[in-house]
Amino acid sequence: MAPFFLLLLLSQILLCAAVDTINSSTPLSGPQKIVSKGNKFTLGFYTPTQGNTTSSSSTSNYYIAIWYSNIPQQTTVWTANSDVPVTDPTTAALTIGNDGNLVLLDRSNNRLLWSTNVSIGSNSTIAVLQDNGSLDLTDANSSIVYWRSIDHPTNTWLPGGKLGLNKTTGVSQRLVPWRNMANPSPGLFSLELDPNGTTQYFIQWKDSKTYWTSGPWNGNIFSLVPEMTAGYNYNFQFINNDTESYFIYSMKDNNVISRFIIDVNGQIKQETWVSASQSWIMFWAQPRTQCEVYAVCGAYGSCNLNALPFCNCIKGFTQKVQSDWDLQDFSGGCKRRVPLQCQTNSSSAQAKPDKFYTMTDISSSQASQTQDSTTTSQTHSATSGGSHFQSI
Ligand SMILES: *[C@@H]1O[C@H](CO)[C@@H](O)[C@H](O)[C@H]1NC(C)=O
Ligand SMILES: *[C@@H]1O[C@H](CO)[C@@H](O)[C@H](O)[C@H]1NC(C)=O
Ligand SMILES: *[C@@H]1O[C@H](CO)[C@@H](O)[C@H](O)[C@H]1NC(C)=O
Ligand SMILES: *[C@@H]1O[C@H](CO)[C@@H](O)[C@H](O)[C@H]1NC(C)=O
Ligand SMILES: *[C@@H]1O[C@H](CO)[C@@H](O)[C@H](O)[C@H]1NC(C)=O
Ligand SMILES: *[C@@H]1O[C@H](CO)[C@@H](O)[C@H](O)[C@H]1NC(C)=O
Ligand SMILES: *[C@@H]1O[C@H](CO)[C@@H](O)[C@H](O)[C@H]1NC(C)=O
Ligand SMILES: *[C@@H]1O[C@H](CO)[C@@H](O)[C@H](O)[C@H]1NC(C)=O
Ligand SMILES: *[C@@H]1O[C@H](CO)[C@@H](O)[C@H](O)[C@H]1NC(C)=O
Ligand SMILES: *[C@@H]1O[C@H](CO)[C@@H](O)[C@H](O)[C@H]1NC(C)=O
Repeated sequence: MAPFFLLLLLSQILLCAAVDTINSSTPLSGPQKIVSKGNKFTLGFYTPTQGNTTSSSSTSNYYIAIWYSNIPQQTTVWTANSDVPVTDPTTAALTIGNDGNLVLLDRSNNRLLWSTNVSIGSNSTIAVLQDNGSLDLTDANSSIVYWRSIDHPTNTWLPGGKLGLNKTTGVSQRLVPWRNMANPSPGLFSLELDPNGTTQYFIQWKDSKTYWTSGPWNGNIFSLVPEMTAGYNYNFQFINNDTESYFIYSMKDNNVISRFIIDVNGQIKQETWVSASQSWIMFWAQPRTQCEVYAVCGAYGSCNLNALPFCNCIKGFTQKVQSDWDLQDFSGGCKRRVPLQCQTNSSSAQAKPDKFYTMTDISSSQASQTQDSTTTSQTHSATSGGSHFQSI
């Protein structure tokens, strides 16, 4: 009796032991998950919370994602198919493809949704989720690593990860926020090391307008980030040689959970998980205030740090796409409540004449002039200098 009982117990333990690997005969599908050896990170299909929308869509989007195993408020650090969501994870599979790459397939129509897309000379590859949060595609029989998720960051830069420039190819890694709180597809902002080879990081809006720079590396810190001299929780290093340049950081205490993110509204933030309060505590952000982010409230929007939400529409305008604003994506901006009289041909008595409204205590980022191409040039020039041409 006793040995049988023991055997049963043993098999139970084996069943419960989580797997950290995907190989060619163990695809991941539906509610299945893999967990890193020390149970720090979990990978599976993830569906973002839908936020407070009144949207009528009832289908959820699923993304292959990695999140912290031990943080109750599910926090992802990486997503794979950010642009191509899956609506039914039971028909999708993350698996080793015939060419050895890790692929996401829609098995209902045999469509390839996502691939690590590297050239591999073997089909005996496996994908292992590591305790540092990286999903590594390696050879089953050797130590060759073909691809690491940590080298292909999405909106999160993890300790141990590089964010740098490959000088041979001229390709730099970029940290790009989610489009909105429910959509991991790439947003409008990006953080990257100067592709021209200087040692400074830029944050840009739509790859064109730079609104923050770290200043060059001076050997100890980035010159415009003096806070780094007090970085007692972190080890950091800037590598710059003929083939590559990158910055890398790690935790002095590996039990501290810390992450570097670029958030939906274009700020970069270093946050630490505080278990006593069960929340992420932000202790560093750039640009320092939300309103310094270029065009964060979109065309005809205004930003006010003392308001909630911090974006609003200027007088006479209303949210262009309310559902985006509900998900904290304000970049779509605002539209006129009432068309300008000079745009409508109306000469009837009920139409009030257009006039200027003077706004005080406002500084312009010029965003309103460059963004909206649907209004007439007349209104563009009218938006500068604090006055605004509008129907009221
Ligand atoms: C895949 O992993 C499972 C256990 O996790 C193992 O039984 C199987 O032999 C592996 N398959 C290959 C092709 O290595
Ligand atoms: C959703 O929005 C409505 C009205 O705007 C509010 O009353 C409600 O509390 C919100 N719910 C959540 C979960 O935020
Ligand atoms: C791997 O390649 C060998 C020889 O090319 C082939 O026989 C085998 O079926 C392949 N295995 C898989 C899982 O594709
Ligand atoms: C793989 O990379 C090639 C070139 O780098 C690109 O043309 C192709 O679309 C990529 N395929 C997938 C599935 O991402
Ligand atoms: C690689 O390992 C797999 C099992 O993991 C084995 O089936 C295969 O024969 C090995 N291939 C080589 C070239 O050693
Ligand atoms: C992550 O952990 C694995 C296993 O310990 C290690 O091989 C790999 O180099 C680590 N990656 C980084 C970027 O630190
Ligand atoms: C730069 O990219 C090339 C091509 O992908 C690769 O072969 C090389 O190893 C990369 N260099 C570094 C330093 O990562
Ligand atoms: C890189 O250099 C080119 C040519 O000198 C310049 O036009 C471009 O603005 C530079 N890019 C950045 C991000 O500084
Ligand atoms: C550049 O630095 C990296 C990291 O220290 C190193 O692996 C690589 O060999 C270096 N390359 C050159 C050309 O010095
Ligand atoms: C204004 O009137 C002109 C000529 O009658 C017409 O072509 C145009 O479409 C009208 N515009 C609007 C906004 O009604």
